[in-house]
Amino acid sequence: MSEKPVEYSGPERVFSGVQPSGSLHLGNYLGALKKFVDLQDAHDCVYCIVDLHAVTVWQDPKELAKQTRHIAAAFLAAGVDPDKAIIYPQAQVRAHSELAWYFNCVARIGWLNRMTQFKDKAGKNSEKMSVGLYDYPVLQAADILAFKATHVPVGEDQKQHLELSRDIAAKFNNDFDAPGFFPLPEPLIKGPGARVMSLKDGSSKMSKSDPSDLSRINLTDEADKIAKKIRKAKTDPEPIPAEMDGLEGRPEVANLVGIYAALSGQSDQDVLNTYAGEGFGVFKPALADLCVEKIAPITESMNRYLADPAEIDRILAKGAEAAAAIADPIVSDVRDIMGFWKA
Ligand code: AMP
Ligand code: TRP
Repeated sequence: MSEKPVEYSGPERVFSGVQPSGSLHLGNYLGALKKFVDLQDAHDCVYCIVDLHAVTVWQDPKELAKQTRHIAAAFLAAGVDPDKAIIYPQAQVRAHSELAWYFNCVARIGWLNRMTQFKDKAGKNSEKMSVGLYDYPVLQAADILAFKATHVPVGEDQKQHLELSRDIAAKFNNDFDAPGFFPLPEPLIKGPGARVMSLKDGSSKMSKSDPSDLSRINLTDEADKIAKKIRKAKTDPEPIPAEMDGLEGRPEVANLVGIYAALSGQSDQDVLNTYAGEGFGVFKPALADLCVEKIAPITESMNRYLADPAEIDRILAKGAEAAAAIADPIVSDVRDIMGFWKA
């Protein structure tokens, strides 16, 4: 967190968001939640459950609030402490939608046309997708900048959206002659676990939308299910190599080694040092034990939180109030800068 954004001289703040759609998996944990926890002691952190992003694709109204509590429970179970960080649902804080509209008038259509996540999600059906799905990255920029966040912990798949947020911030500052009003937010992507791949295909990322449940480890999976999924994970007949270049061309093996490293807090090379020459008959059970050791307490704690939805609701309501207290004055300044009428 050393590189200071150009011109902006306000305080540092961390912001990130997770969608309340589908259950969380090991990629979400290593790419996002674990970083959220690591940052909360030394930084001012805001973690948002981005329900407005979720509804860019169909969400059953009977399930949405439940899904939001589920993500809140995952945050808390992973170790996010509501006394240290703000946790709240996006739709409770009006600043997100309002700033997104102003940013719609700053961002250019050409910029959005380049977003690969939209192309991936829409596929050949882009004409039938919601306008919201297309506009998703603008709302994401609004999320971050409504808090003047300077640092954004995310997985690697969010890199392009972060670049767009920087472009929007820079264009706003420039167009409205407000140098340094918005920071240019820095992504915090590096580190083990930034890109956890599918257990079935080392070339696609672990994802909640993968039709095969065997491709991912969910934070809600029981110990024997985790062990089974790792046993069935794709590998090859070669043993674990001694050096990193022995992982080249073996994406599935590299992924399992990376997961082991991220969960145990070691480097990939440390893991190779321990397991060089061993086959998967040895490595997979060790990895399964490690996964269970790290994930089972989170699953148990999530279940405890989910058994007490009133406590979750209390935390989210308090978080929403604290979040609005930061974001509302910033969006009010935006209105002034843009020159809207006021009483
Ligand atoms: P999402 O579930 O898409 O809202 O993602 C929530 C967070 O998890 C974002 O920061 C993503 O970048 C991160 N994430 C999602 N999938 C992975 C993955 N396979 N590896 C690492 N990070 C991921
Ligand atoms: N687009 C992010 C994802 O799919 C979620 C998100 C929404 C987000 N708003 C954000 C992440 C702001 C970081 C900052 O994972």
